[in-house]
Amino acid sequence: MSGIVDTIQGRRSVRTFENKPLTPEDRAYVEGVIQSIETPFGAPVEFRLLDAAEHGLKSPVIVGAHEYVAAKVERIPGAELALGFAFECFCLRAAERGLGTVMLAASLSRKSFEEAMEVGPGEVMPVASPVGYPAAKLSLRESMMRKAIKSDERLPFSRVFFSGSFGTPLSPSDAGRFEEPLEMLRLAPSATNKQPWRAVVDGDTVHFFEEHSLKESALGDIQKVDMGIALSHFLLTAQERGLEGRFVTRDPEAAAPKGTEYITSFEAAR
Ligand SMILES: Cc1cc2nc3c(=O)[nH]c(=O)nc-3n(C[C@H](O)[C@H](O)[C@H](O)COP(=O)(O)O)c2cc1C
Repeated sequence: MSGIVDTIQGRRSVRTFENKPLTPEDRAYVEGVIQSIETPFGAPVEFRLLDAAEHGLKSPVIVGAHEYVAAKVERIPGAELALGFAFECFCLRAAERGLGTVMLAASLSRKSFEEAMEVGPGEVMPVASPVGYPAAKLSLRESMMRKAIKSDERLPFSRVFFSGSFGTPLSPSDAGRFEEPLEMLRLAPSATNKQPWRAVVDGDTVHFFEEHSLKESALGDIQKVDMGIALSHFLLTAQERGLEGRFVTRDPEAAAPKGTEYITSFEAAR
């Protein structure tokens, strides 16, 4: 069985699927995963596995998917963070089994998804994802999209991670035991591949920040979902490597660049 680092390194968004429904075994696997996900960020996340034909679920970028997974959360502080964390845990568990996913915030028939999820007035469903068997060849549209938003690229390590303060870039070799968790965080998917995460390593603590580069909508701040995704990559890698610690939210009042918001910190056990 491969570990989380291999899964993260091998993952990519999948928009082109073999045109066949999940087998009963794979349906049961997905159901089991989505019922058991826990997050360190309070807000409870409710998932459902939905049949596309039954609920009229559509996406202009998806080809050949028969099922979707969607998730909703109460609109409370930390909701988007919890949702991003939980949703990425599902996507990684799907990838471990060879199932393809891609989070969709914009490219989906939102009304039919929200009806299928019975989203109430105090709730939000930021993303949904198809789940199925990746086709051998990407659709032309998917290939063009990947090129247009440079989906295979990520910002360099020392461009997004810092040592002590935002003024001092951090090199991978100076990141010590945080190197691999940060490197796996760097590979995370994000809305339009904006990669809003920034981190400042200070001794045994890593402070995480969000660089706002997309406008908020009625659905909330989609880049907080990205932050939740990124933190799942960080925590799952730390756990796999035996690096113990916990998230605490205590603003270090670091002089963050304009438009950069403190999110949370990871305190490693000594
Ligand atoms: C929160 C979120 C929302 C996204 N929304 C969409 C979307 O609406 N349509 C789409 O085609 N891709 C969407 N994506 C997929 C990203 O474009 C993709 O993750 C990014 O380009 C990086 O590519 P990769 O996942 O293959 O590494 C979304 C990803 C995230 C994390």
